[in-house]
Amino acid sequence: MDLPSLLPRSFKDGEVVLRLLSNSDWPLEQALSNVADVVRWTSVSAGLSEQEARERVQHSISRYRAGAGGRYVVERYGLACGTVGIGTAGDGPAEVGYALLPAARGAGVATRSIRLLVEWAVRVGIDEVALHTFPDNLASQRTASRCGFVLTGQTIRAVKGADTALLTWSYRPRTV
Ligand SMILES: CC(C)(COP(=O)(O)OP(=O)(O)OC[C@H]1O[C@@H](n2cnc3c(N)ncnc32)[C@H](O)[C@@H]1OP(=O)(O)O)[C@@H](O)C(=O)NCCC(=O)NCCS
Repeated sequence: MDLPSLLPRSFKDGEVVLRLLSNSDWPLEQALSNVADVVRWTSVSAGLSEQEARERVQHSISRYRAGAGGRYVVERYGLACGTVGIGTAGDGPAEVGYALLPAARGAGVATRSIRLLVEWAVRVGIDEVALHTFPDNLASQRTASRCGFVLTGQTIRAVKGADTALLTWSYRPRTV
């Protein structure tokens, strides 16, 4: 599906600010690549060099410019503590992805950040937002549930070049 080409540059609620990833955010990208479970559960590769981290950030910026998605730095108390994004890979629904540095976890930050994105999606008329989790990524599954996603099944996707079984989750706006 097409995402509206003008994704907001920022979102905020009472506790978190999401601001569009920019070139200067490569150290955050690099820091996330040094967190074992982020590498285990997401598409990021371990131990990115500065150049690799810059390229990954640039890829996200290019996707934003092409209207294919937005990736945002999550800030809490003014500190960058992770990233969250919404994008589309083609014909399917919009998808969200997220990862936080360990120090920011356990305080509802992911829940708040994802809610900001799905609430925006509902406001602009997107009728479904999806996400994928590894079957044994319980933290992400709890987060998905807490944000209103419902488990819908399983799929096989290429993750870092390997066919991988993932759970599929769906968020749909309430119709009543
Ligand atoms: C998944 C992740 C973003 C959660 O971030 P967070 O800010 O700690 O999550 P929240 O505080 O908003 O918690 C949301 C729910 O998940 C639960 N949760 C969080 N961490 C958990 C853990 N390690 N084990 C079990 N449940 C966990 C919380 O208790 C809460 O559920 P509840 O309200 O029913 O109690 C974080 O653990 C992370 O970055 N993991 C590595 C990257 C990753 O897995 N990304 C997702 C790929 S699909």
